Amino acid sequence: MQKIRKAVIPAAGLGTRFLPATKAMAKEMMPVVDTPSIQFVVEEAIASGIEDILIITGKGKNAIEDHFDANISLENNLREKGKDKLLEKAQSTTIPSIHYVRQAYPRGLGDAILQAQTFVGDEPFAVLLGDDIMPSKTPLTKSLMDVYEKHGMGAVATIRIPKEKSSKYGVIDIEENLEEDVHSIRHLVEKPSPEDAPSNLGIVGRYVLPPEIFDILRNQEPDAGDEVQLTDALEILNQTSPMVAYEYDGIRYDVGEKYGMLVANIEVGLQHEETSEKMREHLKQLAKDLKKA
Ligand code: UTP
Repeated sequence: MQKIRKAVIPAAGLGTRFLPATKAMAKEMMPVVDTPSIQFVVEEAIASGIEDILIITGKGKNAIEDHFDANISLENNLREKGKDKLLEKAQSTTIPSIHYVRQAYPRGLGDAILQAQTFVGDEPFAVLLGDDIMPSKTPLTKSLMDVYEKHGMGAVATIRIPKEKSSKYGVIDIEENLEEDVHSIRHLVEKPSPEDAPSNLGIVGRYVLPPEIFDILRNQEPDAGDEVQLTDALEILNQTSPMVAYEYDGIRYDVGEKYGMLVANIEVGLQHEETSEKMREHLKQLAKDLKKA
């Protein structure tokens, strides 16, 4: 079994759900309290034992590269003023093992991953989407890597979803339960209507994939919206290289959309040493006011 050493983080999407904020700013840099969402994902990859990370960027995404690079003038400024704690924070996101490649046109997640072929080569690899922040004692990517090593199959992360939301997810048609939280996959269906959904297991943004996915993506026609869908490629892959679904039941913040981002900021704010007390008091008062209203 080949060890998983590399991870791909697609971050070239337009982020239109956050317009106007994303007109001139990468949505991946939008913060949860004081941390850009993409940093949570990079930290998860590193905590999972990933050695090399490729971020797929695009036009208007330069801030991502700057964020993970050193900022000498800021560092000098903080050093001169003796602000050691802040200096430490600024330096903590300087990560040399991150590489970048650009997706020329935002032609969907599948096309973004295809840009990683040269970096990945002939190895299995992890994919992490910045839209999902899923804090967990064992990082979710690590759990998927363990499932891959144990079963020798590509793995997708899933959560239980309300059936009425199935049209927002890729949904798994389960073939067999291999373990309580690991299921072999018969089919993967992209955004089915609730009536057509084969289960309530929806795909979330973590995958461990074999390199065979690249040939499939290269030959795949874009859909009606001119996007190459990853789920469609996984459905083809599953016919020749069967995959498993890993069921995650921890916390998930869908920071790719407004409501999820607000929830993440409130909940992470409730835990942050600088904001937790004030936030708790404010929410208590707000709950009282809302009860009266
Ligand atoms: P999304 O569809 O959630 O991202 O893609 P988006 O297109 O940026 O969002 P909206 O719908 O316009 O608000 C999931 C992930 O895939 C990346 C995104 O950056 C996001 O992390 N992606 C998407 C690409 O890298 N390239 C693409 O062409 C599309």
